[in-house]
Amino acid sequence: MWNETLLNEIDITGPAPESEPARQFYYMKKCREWADAEKERCGRPLTYLAETLGCQMNAKDSEKMTAILEYIGYVPGGEHEKKDGKSIDADFVLYNTCTVRENANQKIYGHLGFLKNQKEKHPSMKIALCGCMMQEEDEIEKIKKSYPFVNLVFGTFNIYKLAELLYEEIRSNKRVIDVWDKAKDIVEDLPGKRVYSFKTGVNIMYGCNNFCSYCIVPYVRGRERSRRPEDIIAEIRDLVSDGVTEVMLLGQNVNSYGKTFGAEAVPNPDADSAAFADLLRKVNEIEGLRRIRFMTSHPKDLSDELIDAMATCDKVCDHLHLPLQSGSSDILRKMNRKYDKESYLSLVDKIRARVPDIALTTDIIVGFPGETEEDFAETLDVVDRVGYDSAYTFIYSKRTGTPAARYPDEVPDDVVKDRFDRLLSLIHDKSESIFASRVGKTYEALIEEINDHDPSMVTARLSNNALVHLPGDSSLIGKYVDVVLKESRGFYYIGEKV
Ligand code: 5AD
Ligand code: SF4
Repeated sequence: MWNETLLNEIDITGPAPESEPARQFYYMKKCREWADAEKERCGRPLTYLAETLGCQMNAKDSEKMTAILEYIGYVPGGEHEKKDGKSIDADFVLYNTCTVRENANQKIYGHLGFLKNQKEKHPSMKIALCGCMMQEEDEIEKIKKSYPFVNLVFGTFNIYKLAELLYEEIRSNKRVIDVWDKAKDIVEDLPGKRVYSFKTGVNIMYGCNNFCSYCIVPYVRGRERSRRPEDIIAEIRDLVSDGVTEVMLLGQNVNSYGKTFGAEAVPNPDADSAAFADLLRKVNEIEGLRRIRFMTSHPKDLSDELIDAMATCDKVCDHLHLPLQSGSSDILRKMNRKYDKESYLSLVDKIRARVPDIALTTDIIVGFPGETEEDFAETLDVVDRVGYDSAYTFIYSKRTGTPAARYPDEVPDDVVKDRFDRLLSLIHDKSESIFASRVGKTYEALIEEINDHDPSMVTARLSNNALVHLPGDSSLIGKYVDVVLKESRGFYYIGEKV
């Protein structure tokens, strides 16, 4: 497990160690030496700005990278809101990119245009791009050709090497591009920086083997590989002793946890459908931990053992994110989802029978190639029958290299837009009535932060993931309190401590 004493013992007068994580400790220290000199020269600490797009996995990766930057000596800052707009003068700007939909890529190019201008005013600014979009060859070519002011480019498999790559850039004074096409090792024992002191994500597996026909994730995050349960438990125990009471177990598809282990994705001969449920039970036994969440579950292999673990483990939260994608069995087949409308609905019934108060959330794609009005009506029907607490809705985005990119019968934009609006309005109506049905009841809530809009209020989260705002101050942050829900405001509650 990460500890600063280990790092302090590393000798940086000789060559870099070959083994990890010692090698990264060496480069972090080398960079720190450089940063100390820079600090002296500028008369102020160096600043960093980290922007994260995309999912929880990226958020977790960013926590790891910002911890490395802070160890080196960078402090958060370098962004200024001014009357005539935003300006950036950070010494290090990191963009952790997403590529799941095309508009995420467009966003990055928009940011780069702005950063080019900012860097002209602050030539010592280093710009780094990493994450999923950097795993795409075409994008790398574009950056090489048209964005020469970008200093560092790396992908999803080598984020732990940030210090080594930065050191190479400092040493050579040349742009460093290092993107791997697959995982070489899983290096975990590096510093971590948490956005919240009391909750954090914990990676339990990386990659995805499902190859849903629309999805680029398996190509940019590689094959599925799980971490050993004993390593996960040890990490969570350490986090708990450092004040964490809520963990979110992270994986692209947690239900296939344990099928392959390690960076080489070695098949596990003992793999069975209960592996994730077993892990949940073990995590549930960790003393001092109060809440366990997990993300994401694929409906095709959500086991009975998992439902049983959710029903019986007291720390597992009353929330399940269960991506539907489409309610049409025909579209689901074309999406390569490996379940159909009926099996999804019976899974929901099975879960609700064991965990009656569970809040279900989902992801839905509108406008997949060939989606007819009848197909879309099936999606509306599932939304109506399930009643989700909330749903993330996406307009289908064609991703080059995925099978669906070659499918015929693209749905015209105006039709997609109309369906999207109808879907949103049904989701809103349903979730409004679900939220309203809980008013008057009392729930345990974890106070997370001071309310964004009203400093006399705090924002808390219920086990079912709903947010509640209540009167309170910063002394409550990180505490669990019983809250009565006084009023539903559609997607959140106004409550009071009881
Ligand atoms: N177009 C639109 N939405 C997509 N998603 C994944 N790939 C695409 C795509 N090509 C959505 C899915 C997934 C969520 C993370 O992003 O709904 O569950
Ligand atoms: Fe993409 Fe499907 Fe894997 Fe989710 S399960 S990351 S949608 S391929």
